[in-house]
Amino acid sequence: MSELGKIMVLHGPNLNLLGQREPEVYGHTTLAEINTMLQEEAARAGFALEIIQSNVEGELINAIHRAIPECAAILLNPGALTHYSIALRDAIAAVPIPTVEVHLSNIYAREEFRRQSVLAPVCAGQITGFGVLSYRLGLEAAIALAQRSVRKE
Ligand code: DQA
Repeated sequence: MSELGKIMVLHGPNLNLLGQREPEVYGHTTLAEINTMLQEEAARAGFALEIIQSNVEGELINAIHRAIPECAAILLNPGALTHYSIALRDAIAAVPIPTVEVHLSNIYAREEFRRQSVLAPVCAGQITGFGVLSYRLGLEAAIALAQRSVRKE
């Protein structure tokens, strides 16, 4: 099948440690395993993925800027930046690309400081609390949004 387009997948701070990091909260699946699953799902729908993990806020912002004009959607787990990064929020708002926010844990069932996402208002939507399934559902949403924008061109 020929490729319909590209979706950017961004993993924020500390997500490189998935599998060993607080497994009782984030599970035992590694980031590499999540990425393989996402690649397979995307390929089935005819999309290529550009996957980036960074512990550095500015690198994630640069990646979002670079997503124009190539990427038709962004799938983002911002990690702790979710709760305070106005700079990341501004980057998402600055690009004309629909962004889907995902979290493995249910941020609304955790500590008070995690119950706010400063990014959610500028994202197309948010999926939180389903473990690895959050990524799968998030990719499904990102693909649907990407297909809409590809069809509009
Ligand atoms: C997280 C939730 C955040 O509060 C936390 O800082 C993370 C992971 C999640 O996927 O559940 O790093 O985004």
